[in-house]
Amino acid sequence: MSTPAPTPAPASLPGHGHGPGHGPGTGASASAGGSSPDGPRPAPPATLPANVFHPDRPDRLLRMLTKLSDHLISHLTMPGLRRDPALPPPRAAGALVLEVSARREVAEDAVELTLTAPGGEQLPGWEPGCHLDLTLPSGRRRQYSLCGDRADRSAYRIAVRRIAGGGGGSEEVHRDLVPGSTVSTLGPRNAFPFAAEPALLLIAGGIGITPVLPMAREAARRGLDWHLVHTGRSRASMPFAEELAALDPEGRRVTFHCYDSDGYPDPERLLDLAPAADAAVYCCGPAPLLAGVRRAFEQRPLRALHAERFTPPPIVDGRPFTLRLTDGTEVPVPADRSALDALLDARPGTAYSCRQGFCGTCRVRVLSGTPEHRDHRLTDEERAAGDLLICVSRAEEGTCLELEV
Ligand code: FES
Repeated sequence: MSTPAPTPAPASLPGHGHGPGHGPGTGASASAGGSSPDGPRPAPPATLPANVFHPDRPDRLLRMLTKLSDHLISHLTMPGLRRDPALPPPRAAGALVLEVSARREVAEDAVELTLTAPGGEQLPGWEPGCHLDLTLPSGRRRQYSLCGDRADRSAYRIAVRRIAGGGGGSEEVHRDLVPGSTVSTLGPRNAFPFAAEPALLLIAGGIGITPVLPMAREAARRGLDWHLVHTGRSRASMPFAEELAALDPEGRRVTFHCYDSDGYPDPERLLDLAPAADAAVYCCGPAPLLAGVRRAFEQRPLRALHAERFTPPPIVDGRPFTLRLTDGTEVPVPADRSALDALLDARPGTAYSCRQGFCGTCRVRVLSGTPEHRDHRLTDEERAAGDLLICVSRAEEGTCLELEV
């Protein structure tokens, strides 16, 4: 492992130290003239409504408000807030069409996009760990963590690694989202909240640095005792070294661990970097890294482990069952595959996003059969009404779920 202090942050990078702001949509004061990678941006002329609805809270009042909000967004004309008629209708409140105002390569096969309101309005506030749902031109929905400075309300920044042979979303971002193009977004939403404990170990694997970078920024602003370790296959593949160096002028708080020079990281060694014996640990990265950190964590008196994976969770106790579609097609679901993956073979256009049972994009209606719900989103009422999240949920061995698909 190495703890270099790479090149200082260039003047064109977004500034830091805009002062603390701790509440969702409230604390981050506007940064008039906040900068983007392309240079200074004029002060935003107006403020969009704060994103007060949290689509992950599935109560009845919220659903009513969500529908009302979607209706209003569809029919009202607000400066800078418009819907792209070519895109499918959004399923939650807070849909915004944003423009790609800048794009830059931040590492091998990784681009950073700066997204702004077409009229330059301020964007809803967000917290470290938040992500944005993007509806890509093809209709694919994907979630990307916000990696910019939340004190800059003039723009959102996301970074996307191209995954060749993946689901196609990252390749579409790399190919089609260029300066001047627009994209429909939902959020920000937070599935990886940052509790700002007094002592913190932040672990990021590869592009998993995206939600962790704002946490480090927040920790630095608040004067917390933090250490960040960024792992990746090589330095060239690891984005945001300059931003990290700017947060760590003395070179004490950031460690880079490259597989090509340091070998695969030992999770025990990673946890040794915690700044205190009772530090909280935040980890975002590929499943093997998370699994190793989780195992090592269980042997220590550390305070808490907060983790976000960007691959689907492993299937535990999977049993084979069958899906029957409305046209009579039967789709076998093997023990080691998700129902979503099996359905995608038969219906490649099936909508999905997180593949972890929290975004709700893959929701389908069950017409008959008994599902085994494994998500963390649906209410009892929604389950009783026949809703099912097929990215994680299953059925008993040998049974059949008839779906309205
Ligand atoms: S894809 Fe997100 S809940 Fe299924």
